[in-house]
Amino acid sequence: MSGPELPAAEELKSCCAAAYGQDAVALLLGEAYHPGGQALTNRLAGALELRSGQHVVDIASGPGTTARLLASGHGAEVTGVELNPSSVDAAQRAAAQDGLAERVRFLVGDAERLPLPDDAADAVLCECAFCTFPDKATAAAEFARVLEPGGRVGITDVTARPGGLPDELSGLTAWVACIADARPMADYRAILEEAGLRVRHAQDHDEALRNMISTIEARLKFLRMTDPARLTRAGVDVEAVLHHTRLAAEATADGALGYALITAEKPLHAADLDAS
Ligand SMILES: C[S@@+](CC[C@H](N)C(=O)[O-])C[C@H]1O[C@@H](n2cnc3c(N)ncnc32)[C@H](O)[C@@H]1O
Repeated sequence: MSGPELPAAEELKSCCAAAYGQDAVALLLGEAYHPGGQALTNRLAGALELRSGQHVVDIASGPGTTARLLASGHGAEVTGVELNPSSVDAAQRAAAQDGLAERVRFLVGDAERLPLPDDAADAVLCECAFCTFPDKATAAAEFARVLEPGGRVGITDVTARPGGLPDELSGLTAWVACIADARPMADYRAILEEAGLRVRHAQDHDEALRNMISTIEARLKFLRMTDPARLTRAGVDVEAVLHHTRLAAEATADGALGYALITAEKPLHAADLDAS
């Protein structure tokens, strides 16, 4: 398969982490770093049947919004793991400001090499980030490793129809924007199953992606009108972003892009999976 040339895996991950620490991204995304925002996180927590006092690991925790919500709204003890050290610092400060420092901690770490022991978590979450991991099988194996037997994993992520995206949505910018390496729902399910996890829920939430794209577009147009200097200071190339959001909006409209919520369980005994 040919397409735009991409950097090697470690560089892809660094580019991704660096991008999400930038002012431009905060300006365009606001509080919601994943489609569906807090409402979809609450739905994911419900599907995972989270209970008060459980230890939840939030992989690629970004600004820490989800970790704070899981602690304040669901009574969880949360460890966020995130590759960008400045995002980790900012997330830790925000948790302390909300009085959650005792229940929420953040570690600098790579989803493909989690800095956590085996069987450490009741649940693992990963929102809008699995699609950016170059080695998804290794990341899924890491989720399974840190989960205790009977524990659950929940991901929400961008889905893509194979061959459905234009070349312009296949390069580095689109990779970082969670599009270029997005997979069909069936692929995500297969990757989790191959890591020894048993899929429990698989739901489409395409509307959440459509809404996020139109919110970004509206925010950008509003800032271009009211405060163009702020966009310049943050280094936003307005026309380029608008062009990409238009392409992404077209791809969601024709079903080439969507958004999924998937949960899976680590069997109590490895043999349980073979028997099912
Ligand atoms: C779209 S943001 C989602 C953030 C967060 N999950 C949320 O929904 O609010 C993707 C995040 O993944 C992080 N990331 C990318 N690759 C990573 C990796 N290999 N390990 C850990 N974090 C990673 C980025 O730094 C960024 O914060």
